[in-house]
This record gives sequence, structure tokens and C-alpha cells, in this order.
Amino acid sequence: MSPFTVAIDGPAAAGKGTISKAVAAHFDLAHLDTGLLYRAVGARMLTGEDPIAAAQSLVAEDLENPDLRTADVARAASKVAVIPEVRAALLDFQRAFARRSGGAVLDGRDIGTVICPQAEVKLFVTASAEVRAQRRLVELTERGFETDFNTVLADVKARDDRDMNRADAPLRPAEDAVLIDTSDLSIDAAVARAVSAVEAVR
Ligand code: C5P
Repeated sequence: MSPFTVAIDGPAAAGKGTISKAVAAHFDLAHLDTGLLYRAVGARMLTGEDPIAAAQSLVAEDLENPDLRTADVARAASKVAVIPEVRAALLDFQRAFARRSGGAVLDGRDIGTVICPQAEVKLFVTASAEVRAQRRLVELTERGFETDFNTVLADVKARDDRDMNRADAPLRPAEDAVLIDTSDLSIDAAVARAVSAVEAVR
């Protein structure tokens, strides 16, 4: 039997991360947050490194950098993510992860369209930019960062724009993706929809 892959894509702060972790736990699958790979490259670029060289020499310890969740690194990640050589350098690792014998959940921007177009289940998780900015604001404030709604909203929109309009692997739903709009859903309700979409083919 071929390994079971769940591809979960969508814009920043739509709830992908939460849904991916819950789906992985529910079905006992390994989980890869592919945004972390781009964040790790972005973080190394911020220290002055060439992003292509950084992507080509990425190691496991890069993913343990505690600064990967900052807004600066998120912005840098979406800048390095437009570079085709950076994306190419990260491709094999993601595909190998998807082929794990026990099955895997991968979340990102191009999993259903480019990395794993054969995934058994594809979900596209989205929400309005305002709802996503509000969620991100709460998260950043809780973690002690001082910011405000309009700054976060502008950041979310700038990142959406870069992710959706880049030439290589732009953010868009795969044709056969199940859409989940979490704007008016609780976390539990969003997770329940994702679980039932997986159950339908599992
Ligand atoms: O998901 P996260 O917000 O951590 O991703 C950070 C950035 O990495 C995104 O804005 C996007 O530009 C890039 N990314 C990507 N392809 C993926 C995952 C993330 O281009 N599969």
C-alpha cells in the first residue's frame, strides 16, 4: 500500500497548524510544518547568509531556532520562498517525509499542488484577512510582542500577496482540495471538518 498523505495548504494564520496537529494526532500520522523550513532559511538570511546556500545546507538544528516564530522571520521566510532555487533545495526533504511508511500530514502553501499532488486528501484552510490578523495579534500579544491590529493586518496582506502572486508554486487550492473556511468556526468545529474529510477516504 502506498503511504497515506494528507496535504493541508492555506494562508498565514488560517488555522492550518492547529488543524494539522489535530489531524496527525487523530490518525496517528507524522506531521511536518513546512513553513518552518522557509522560516529557518529566512532566519539564516537575516544573519547575512545567502538564502540559496542556506537552503542547500539546512540541518535539523536550524528548525530548533527559538526565533523562528517572530514576525521578522515570517516576513523573511515569505521573501526567500519566492526564490526557485530555495524551493528546489527543500523539495526532496518534504517528499521523503510524505512517503513515510506510517503516513504523514504536511502543511504549507504548495503541498497539494507541487510537493504532493498525489496526496490522498487535500485540504485548503482559509479565513478572511481580518480574522487571521486578529488571531495573529492575540498570539503575538500573548507571547509578549508589542504590536497592533493594523500593523498585523498589513503584514498578513503583504505576505498573502507575495505567497499568491509569486511565479513558482503560488498559494492556491488544488483542484480537488476540500475547502475549509475557518472565519466563523471554532477550533473544534474546524478540526471536526478536517477529520471527517480524511475519514471519507481513509
Ligand atoms: O506557514 P508559515 O507562516 O510558517 O510560512 C512562512 C512562509 O513560508 C510563508 O509566508 C510562505 O511564504 C512560505 N512557505 C511556502 N511554502 C510552504 C510553506 C511556507 O512558500 N509550503
